[in-house]
Amino acid sequence: MKRTLLTLLAALVLLPALADEGMWLPSLISERIDDMRAKGFRLTAEDIYSINKASMKDAVVLFNGGCTGELISPEGLLLTNHHCGYDAIQKHSTVEHDYLTNGFWAMSRAEELPNEKLWVRFLVRMEEVTDRIAAGETAAQIVEKAKAEGTGYKASVEQMYYGNQQFLFVYEQFDDVRLVAAPPSSIGKFGGDTDNWIWPRHTGDFSMFRVYASKDNRPAAYSPQNVPYRPKKHFSISTKGVKEGDFTMIYGFPGNTQEYILSDAVAYIAERSDPAKIAVRTGRLDIITKAQESDPALRIHYAAKHASIANAWKKWQGEVLGINRLGTVASKRAYEEEFAAWAQDKPEYRSVVADLKAEYDRIMDAYFAYEITRETLSTLPAAYTPEERAEECFARRKFAEQALWRHAFREYGRCPKVYRTPSYAEGMARYKSPEAYADALFEAVWEGSDSVAMQPAVRLREETKRMLDHISWMLGTKSLRNLNSKILNELYTTYIKGLREWDRERAFYPDANLTLRVAYGSVAGYEYADGEYHKPQTTLDGIIAKDNPEIYDYDIPQSLRDLYASKNYGRWGTVIDGRRTVPVCFLATNHTTGGNSGSPVLNAGGELIGINFDRTWRSTMSDIAYDPAICRNIAVDIRYVLFVVDRVGGAGYLLKEMTLK
Ligand code: ARG
Ligand code: ASP
Repeated sequence: MKRTLLTLLAALVLLPALADEGMWLPSLISERIDDMRAKGFRLTAEDIYSINKASMKDAVVLFNGGCTGELISPEGLLLTNHHCGYDAIQKHSTVEHDYLTNGFWAMSRAEELPNEKLWVRFLVRMEEVTDRIAAGETAAQIVEKAKAEGTGYKASVEQMYYGNQQFLFVYEQFDDVRLVAAPPSSIGKFGGDTDNWIWPRHTGDFSMFRVYASKDNRPAAYSPQNVPYRPKKHFSISTKGVKEGDFTMIYGFPGNTQEYILSDAVAYIAERSDPAKIAVRTGRLDIITKAQESDPALRIHYAAKHASIANAWKKWQGEVLGINRLGTVASKRAYEEEFAAWAQDKPEYRSVVADLKAEYDRIMDAYFAYEITRETLSTLPAAYTPEERAEECFARRKFAEQALWRHAFREYGRCPKVYRTPSYAEGMARYKSPEAYADALFEAVWEGSDSVAMQPAVRLREETKRMLDHISWMLGTKSLRNLNSKILNELYTTYIKGLREWDRERAFYPDANLTLRVAYGSVAGYEYADGEYHKPQTTLDGIIAKDNPEIYDYDIPQSLRDLYASKNYGRWGTVIDGRRTVPVCFLATNHTTGGNSGSPVLNAGGELIGINFDRTWRSTMSDIAYDPAICRNIAVDIRYVLFVVDRVGGAGYLLKEMTLK
C-alpha cells in the first residue's frame, strides 16, 4: 500500500515530459519541435538553429560569461539586463556623471562608451564529439582544431548527462562592446532587494550595448576605426503585446541546474545547507543593514555587498519552501527505489544507487564544512587597503566591520570539529569566546598593524585556505559549486545512463552548464496562495502605487511621475483591463536559471516580446525540480523598454534601427 502510494507520488511529480519543463540543446531541437508547434510555435527547427543559414542562434550572445544578450538591429545593437550591464555602467560613473543614478543615453555613435574586458560570444556551431573522444582524440585536441577555424574563435568541449555525451561548442568572441543606454537605477533596479525574486514586479531591468567589429566584420580589439557589427540575424520586436496563454520561448545561457541528483543531495540542500547558509547570511545582512541605515555614505558603501549577499539568501529561502511544498525528497526517494528494483538483475546498475548514497555519506560533512567556511571566515578581508582607508567614511565603518568579524567567528562554530582549523581551536581556548577572539584579530587588521601583531590573523587565513584545499582534494574535484566529488561524477554517469534506459517515458534534457539552450512555455499567472491568483502582467499604475520618495527602492524619477500625470504615453499607451496604461513586466512558465538573465523572450513567430531577468522566489527550486504549478520566470515587457528609451531617455532615435512589428 505504502509502496503504491509512493510510486503514485513519484509519477505525479516526475511525470515524463512535464509541461514546459526543460532546457533543450538547440542542435537537437528537432526532437522537440512537434511539441513546440503543438503549443503554438509557428517556426521550424532550422529557424532556431542552423549551420546552413542565418538562424535565431546568431542573434543570441553569452554576455561576459554570466548573462545572456540579444541583437536587436542590423547595426549590432544589443539588449541585456541592467543588472548584467551594472559593472560597466558603474565603471563609467563619477560624481559629475553618475550614470548609475541618472541613467546614460548616448545621443550618437560617437557618445557610445567603450568597456575594457567586456565581451560577447556568438555560437558558431555545436556538435556531438562523444565518438571522436571514444576513438582517442582528446578534448584539448578537438578544441585546438576548432579555435583555428576563425578570427576570435573560442571553443570548449562540455559534458552532457555527467559525461555520457560530449559536445563541442565553437564561439566567435567580440571584445569591442560599447555602452549605449541605461535607465536610471530607480527604473533599472526599481524595487531593489525588496522586490528581488518577487512578483508582482515593476523593474525596468534593461541596458543597451553595441557590438563593434573590424571593417571586414570580424572580431577585433577596441579601436576607434572599428564599425558596428553586422550580425547574421537580429530579432524583430513585437509591439503587439502579450496575453495569458501566449506561447513564449527563451533562448539563452542557463548556468547550473541539478535535476538528476539523488534524494540525499536534495535533503542536504533543503534541510542542512540552505538553512545554515540562510541563518549565517541573515546575521550578516542585519549588521550591514544597520550600518546602512545609520549613515548615507555607508548605505552607498555597502550597497553592492548587500545586494550580492541578499540575492542568494532570498533564493535559498524560496528554494527550501519550494522543495518542501513539492515533497521532492520523498518523491525522489521513491523514484530511486523503483529504479534500484529494476536494476536488481543488471550488473552495470545494480549497486549504483547504494554506491551514490555511500559516497554522499563519505563527503557530506566535509562539504558542509567547506560551505560554512566559505560563508564565514572566508568572507573576512585579509587587509583593509590604502584606497579603502582613504575613503571619507572609513572610520565610521569600524563598528560594522567589527560586528562582521565577531559574527563570522561565532558562526564558524557550525563547522564540524574535524574540519576546523587548528588556529581556531587554539584561539577559542585562549580567548574563551568567539567575540573576544575575533576582536583580537580584527584590531590588528583594522589598524594595519606590524607583521608580528598580524601573525594570528595571517595564520588563521592560511590555515583556512589549506583546509579548503584539503576538502577539494578529499572530494577529488575543484568544482565544488555543487555538492559533488570525482566519485559522484563517475557514479552519476552510470546512474543517468541507467535512468535513460529504464524511464522510457521521461523527456531527458542535460543539466544547465552555461551552454546555449531553448526553453518554451507560455505567459501565465499562478495561484500564489489559496484563493489568491497572481495575474501575469504588471503596469505603470503599479509603479505609481509603489512610488515613495521616502523609500530608496521605490523612489522613481520625476520624469516618470510627470509622464503618468500627463498620460503622455504616445504609442506605448495600451488599454489593459479597461485602463489606459503602459505594460511593465510579465510572468511565464519558461524553465530558466541564473545565466538566463538578459535572455530574449520570443513569441510564436520568433519576435522579441521581453527580456528575462528573474524568477519568483518559490520557483527557484526549478534548479532541482520543476513544478509547473508555481515555477515562473519574470520578464520586462519590451514595450516598457521602448517606452523608457523613448519617453524617459529621449533616445527615441535608437528605435529607428530596430525592426518593430
Ligand atoms: N534575482 C536576479 C538574479 O538572480 C536579479 C539579481 C539582481 N538584483 C538585485 N536586486 N540584487 O540575478
Ligand atoms: N536573476 C538570474 C540571473 O541573473 C536569473 C534567475 O536566476 O532566474 O541570471
